[in-house]
Amino acid sequence: MHNSLNCAACGIEHAVDSLQNLCRECGKPLLVGYDLAALRDSFTPETVRSRCTRSMWKFSDVLPVDRADEAVSLGEGLTPFIQLKPRGSFEVFEQLFVKDEAFNPTGSFKARGMSAAVTRAVSLGAKVVALPSAGNAAGAATYYAARAGIKCYLFMPEDTPPANIVESVVGGAHVYLVNGLISDCGKLVKRGCEEFGWFDLSTLKEPFRIEGKKTMGYELAFDMADAAGTPQLQLPDVIFYPTGGGTGLIGMWKAFDEMQQLGWIGAERPRMVVVQAENCSPIVRAFEQNADHAELFENAATVASGLRVPAAIGDFLMLKVLRESNGTAVRVSDDDLLEGVREISAVQGIYACPEGGAVWKAAQQLLKSGWLRPNEKIVLFNTGSGLKYNHLFPVEGLPILDHHDPNCLSGVSV
Ligand SMILES: Cc1ncc(COP(=O)(O)O)c(C=O)c1O
Ligand SMILES: [Zn+2]
Repeated sequence: MHNSLNCAACGIEHAVDSLQNLCRECGKPLLVGYDLAALRDSFTPETVRSRCTRSMWKFSDVLPVDRADEAVSLGEGLTPFIQLKPRGSFEVFEQLFVKDEAFNPTGSFKARGMSAAVTRAVSLGAKVVALPSAGNAAGAATYYAARAGIKCYLFMPEDTPPANIVESVVGGAHVYLVNGLISDCGKLVKRGCEEFGWFDLSTLKEPFRIEGKKTMGYELAFDMADAAGTPQLQLPDVIFYPTGGGTGLIGMWKAFDEMQQLGWIGAERPRMVVVQAENCSPIVRAFEQNADHAELFENAATVASGLRVPAAIGDFLMLKVLRESNGTAVRVSDDDLLEGVREISAVQGIYACPEGGAVWKAAQQLLKSGWLRPNEKIVLFNTGSGLKYNHLFPVEGLPILDHHDPNCLSGVSV
């Protein structure tokens, strides 16, 4: 269980035992703290390995509960970690891995954040939650709210992937489509919270989604150790992360710090790579300009809906992670990221989301530019399932065979 909540910008403390959103002084995100020194003896990698909990709540000591069984859980986390086959365009990479977040409940890594946030909100008495979403967060919020027996109000751009809209409606959420971007939806949520008393679950505007998402960082250390066949936790050389609001990126960075304070790892860190879509890349632009904050990205557009975040409240935290990690930021065009999906799907057997396609193409870009070396240990985050994006791959003109016709196989290409 956590014991502090401090503003990430001005440091001011906030009460841990009541519902919180942004810093009351400066309006920036709050970060959760734990007494890690006190946990050092009882919370060890061996403890985690010995636990039977089949979810990210294996790490409950650094999550907002006293006991793992208090969690609003649907089995999130503990996702597959897959070394890619050295085939085709993947062949040049010697140690390329995918952390496949498609295996989460509701098919994306958003489940981790929502499990943590809904757990904490419900334990502090929230009965109605609301959020703007690019799609996958809406699906996740719907099902964790349903699991917890509370109401969920969702505001999404009208061109959000149909799969996300359908899953949210079927899951009983109150769904509103908006003729704007996620930032416009966020403004409506803010108004709704003020007028109707909903609890705002917007990314980084409440402190616990990041806590759920940080478990990706904890798991990675175990995954890498397993892949190397040693009990010693380790981190990759480089992590590619498809970045919208940046919660996962900031969360993993926080996890690495916590692990170091727990004595699990040393001071070494992966280089973090932010990957954004060409026509919505505010963080890449700010990184290139060496800025501390990112400007709103006008006319944001991409088929990778999770990356369609023109302004992020955690911009300064992402830019800090990039600088501290010696990382970089890369943009990928929509054509490229869709090609990336086709390649990972057909060559590796992983039906990736467009955001996953983007990180693969970004890795190729950075290998070409010399920023990456082929023998480095590289992890690509496939943050969601390709199934949510079937609409991007219309299949037309497939032949329909007449099974009564004895010659119906004559046209089959062999
Ligand atoms: C599939 C997918 N990948 C990546 C992102 C961006 O995630 P974050 O907000 O943690 O940067 C999203 C957000 O909607 C998403 O749905
Ligand atoms: Zn503050």
